[in-house]
Amino acid sequence: MAEAVLRADGLTRHYRVGRGLFRDHATVKALDGVSFALAPGRTLAVVGESGCGKSTLARQLTLIEPPTAGALQIDGVDAARADAATLKALRRRVQMVFQNPYASLNPRKTIAAALAEPLAINTALTAAERREAVLQMVERVGLRPEHAQRYPHMFSGGQRQRIAIARAMMLGPAAVVADEPTSALDVSIQAQILNLFMDLQEATGTAYVFISHNLAVVEHVAHEVMVMYFGAAVEQGPKAQVLGAPLHPYTQALLGAVPVLRPADRRPRIALAGEMPSPLAPPAGCAFHTRCPSVQPRCRHEVPMLREVGGRRVACHVVAG
Ligand SMILES: Nc1ncnc2c1ncn2[C@@H]1O[C@H](COP(=O)(O)OP(=O)(O)O)[C@@H](O)[C@H]1O
Ligand SMILES: [Mg+2]
Repeated sequence: MAEAVLRADGLTRHYRVGRGLFRDHATVKALDGVSFALAPGRTLAVVGESGCGKSTLARQLTLIEPPTAGALQIDGVDAARADAATLKALRRRVQMVFQNPYASLNPRKTIAAALAEPLAINTALTAAERREAVLQMVERVGLRPEHAQRYPHMFSGGQRQRIAIARAMMLGPAAVVADEPTSALDVSIQAQILNLFMDLQEATGTAYVFISHNLAVVEHVAHEVMVMYFGAAVEQGPKAQVLGAPLHPYTQALLGAVPVLRPADRRPRIALAGEMPSPLAPPAGCAFHTRCPSVQPRCRHEVPMLREVGGRRVACHVVAG
């Protein structure tokens, strides 16, 4: 396997939060020991319900926020030990695409100016060379040359997300972290944006961490899948194993909730009872035990560790093997 462009080892982020007057502070374990290695040209899909820690993971991977514990390597360099100049270089290597492209684009700048900016700051290209690179990228993401002179408000949501993707790709990053990049778009537009991500990956070899609460989206783009619950991975591995033959009751429940077109592919429906418990009062033992259809007595007090079963890693006492 090629050298990993992103490697997380026990990546952890805790937040101290106030609980109101006269009460102690509490700790929210938003991210609690996540590990993976991502090779060039590959896509790791991160899935889980709202509040499971996906965006917190994204902020660690893009160096927006330092982790509480654990290690992150970008291009083989330990981010925690990097000096200021190295850190700046590492930040360029991992770019982010957000759910709402409007918020990430400056309304006063033309698309051409927004795309040229990273080149002006980080490269020695002349103004003419920058213009040429911008036009190439505009075309590559499926926009027309005349679009370059327009402002963000003149575009549709799908076009704006194309622009945000173009901006993320401008410096040829090693990895792009996309946090729910299609969740705000019409269903008819979502597939176009997913195809754009996949075409760009094929052309450039960029690695993706693709975050979504929607398993149908993930099935389309993923090579590897990590299913998160309460800040930790409950099942992770190649897509064929995790989505084709899921072992964790939570993965099975998430898949049962995805509509299937062909009746022969219909999966057994396991209802996902209740909501995620409060992050201020995490359950003892397995965090999923309060909603698990297969719960056993030991699940209530013993935390299950991730272990290798059938070509993937799974954290569940009930899974045999
Ligand atoms: N800055 C913060 N301060 C306190 N708690 C936070 C902060 N950011 C996230 N959290 C909490 O961490 C948990 C995970 O949040 P998040 O990573 O946004 O989940 P997701 O993106 O999967 O919806 C949630 O319980 C959220 O309330
Ligand atoms: Mg989020």
